[in-house]
Amino acid sequence: MTRRVHIIGIGAGSPAHLTLEAIEAMRAVDVFLVADKRETTAQLVDARRALCEKAIPDGGFRFVTVPDPKRGPDADRDAGQYRQGVADWHAARAAAYREIIEGLPEDEVVGFLVWGDPAFYDSTIRVVDTVADSLDLVVHVVPGISAFQALAAAHRIVLHEVGQPVHITTGRRLVDEWSPDLGTVVVMLDGHLACRELVSRAPDLRIWWGASLGLPQQELRSGRLADVIDEIVAVRARLRKEHGWVMDVYALAPEPGA
Ligand SMILES: C[S@@+](CC[C@H](N)C(=O)[O-])C[C@H]1O[C@@H](n2cnc3c(N)ncnc32)[C@H](O)[C@@H]1O
Repeated sequence: MTRRVHIIGIGAGSPAHLTLEAIEAMRAVDVFLVADKRETTAQLVDARRALCEKAIPDGGFRFVTVPDPKRGPDADRDAGQYRQGVADWHAARAAAYREIIEGLPEDEVVGFLVWGDPAFYDSTIRVVDTVADSLDLVVHVVPGISAFQALAAAHRIVLHEVGQPVHITTGRRLVDEWSPDLGTVVVMLDGHLACRELVSRAPDLRIWWGASLGLPQQELRSGRLADVIDEIVAVRARLRKEHGWVMDVYALAPEPGA
C-alpha cells in the first residue's frame, strides 16, 4: 500500500505566510511528525501547533514529536567531519521517521511542516527520500516563503542588480568564499554574524539584516556594514536574551558601482 506524505513549507514565522496550497495540504494531513530538537524547539513546536489550529479549525489531526538524534557541535568540525556528521544524523532521523510511519494505519496522511521553504537549508526532503527507499511513499512538496524572501520584502529591496545572480550561503562558509565578484550574498544559519569578519576587508559592503521576520519581535537594520554591525550584534543579543532564541538572515552587497 502506498502512503501519502505532504512536506509543507509554512513560511518564516508569520501565519500570514501560509499559502492556500499549504492550508489545503495541511487539512489533508492526519498526523504531523515534528522533530523535537529539545533546546529551543518547544517554541518552534508550539508555533507549528498554533499554525495548525488556525489553518485547520475543525481539528482532526495529531502531532507526533520525534526525538531528534543527537548531533555534535558543528563549529569544532572540519568540512569532512561536518558532512559525515550530517549524513549520520540524516540516517538516524530517517530511521526514526520510518519506524513511526510504518506503525501508522496505512490510509493516514503524514505531514511535515517545514519552516520557510523546504528547498533551502532543510533536510526534510532528503530524509523523507531516504525513508522512501524502503517504504512505499508518494511525496508531495508545497513551497513556502523562505526567510530571505521575507527579508527582501521587509526591506523593500530586490536582492540582485538587474540581470545579476544572487549567492545563497551559510555563516559557516561566508568568510572563506566571499569575494566582491559574487554580487549579492544572502547568509542563513549564522548564529555568530560571520560578516563581522568581513568588516576590515570590505567595510563599505551594504548589509540588509532581519531577525525574527514575520514575528511580533521582528527587527530590521540596514546600512554600511562597518557602521551598523555593532548595533546588529547588540540587537541580536537582546532578542536572544528576551525570547530565548533568535533566527536571523542577511544580504550583503557591494556599493553600486564599486
Ligand atoms: C534551518 S534554516 C531553514 C531555512 C528555511 N527552510 C527557509 O526557507 O527560510 C534556518 C535559518 O533560516 C533563517 N530564518 C528562518 N526563519 C527566519 C525568520 N523568521 N527570521 C529570520 N531568519 C529566519 C535563519 O537564517 C535561520 O538560521
